[in-house]
Amino acid sequence: MSSVKTAVFPVAGLGTRFLPATKSVAKEMLSIVDKPLIQYAAEEAFEAGINKLVFIVGRTKNSIIDHFDKAYELESELALRGKDRMLKVVKDVIPDGVSCVFIRQSEALGLGHAVLCAEAAVGHHPFAVLLPDDLIHNDGDGCIKQMVQVFDEYQASIIGTQTVAIEESGKYGMVAGGQVTDRVAKVEEIVEKPAPADAPSDQAIVGRYILTPGIFDLLRTTQRGAGNEIQLTDAIASLRDHEQVLSYSFEGRRYDCGSKIGYLQATVDFALEHDELAKDFRRYLKTLEL
Ligand code: G1P
Repeated sequence: MSSVKTAVFPVAGLGTRFLPATKSVAKEMLSIVDKPLIQYAAEEAFEAGINKLVFIVGRTKNSIIDHFDKAYELESELALRGKDRMLKVVKDVIPDGVSCVFIRQSEALGLGHAVLCAEAAVGHHPFAVLLPDDLIHNDGDGCIKQMVQVFDEYQASIIGTQTVAIEESGKYGMVAGGQVTDRVAKVEEIVEKPAPADAPSDQAIVGRYILTPGIFDLLRTTQRGAGNEIQLTDAIASLRDHEQVLSYSFEGRRYDCGSKIGYLQATVDFALEHDELAKDFRRYLKTLEL
């Protein structure tokens, strides 16, 4: 059985790119077709055998807490009306045996600081980190399940990566290192949001990590870095001085749902795969003179 049982979801960011939609609704609650981004990320974690979800929330994120709460009134109303399918959808938001912890990140000091806020809830165990803005679809095993399998084999921290155009390096943590297998590499260089000329390679960090608990001590002393924030990438760079850190080029397609174009691409692709919608939506798209 896998030793990765806890997932951390840093969801305190303001989502300014989607204003005014995100003025009172958490950006992670924006839906792709009929499911909020945070639910896709949670389901990816459930699939990997994770049974404890730790959400690092900001002040405007109560809708996330409500989403994962039990909805007694809604459930009894659906049961009364015999809407069994929808009742199952609502109940499956959190499967039996999964627990949720919500922690307030009172200051927006960056991703590294958000992960540090999870320390007490994670304890001294390896854990996953999922950034719900990065929606990853794969027909086979989901991204975090693939990474848990790699963790079980190597027992080392793992960063999910993807090839990007080098001009985009300023948007990502970038890594470089020696290949171990087709998809696994040793992380030898890692830097947060470098200019293209300084990028060590074209391998970008996407929002999926498996980390050993040694990261917490390092996060405590990590100074502010890119964007004047405490960066997870910088703590991982220090972790390399103590332990092996691997990167994993996952199987699947990533949508950057923190950007409007990525969000729209995901909406179109997921609608075209949706049981109830696919046929009508495809027919509609064909009428567009593009
Ligand atoms: C964060 C990380 C960055 C990573 C990115 C993936 O940046 O700091 O290393 O490449 O997520 O989405 P953010 O997009 O939160 O600025």
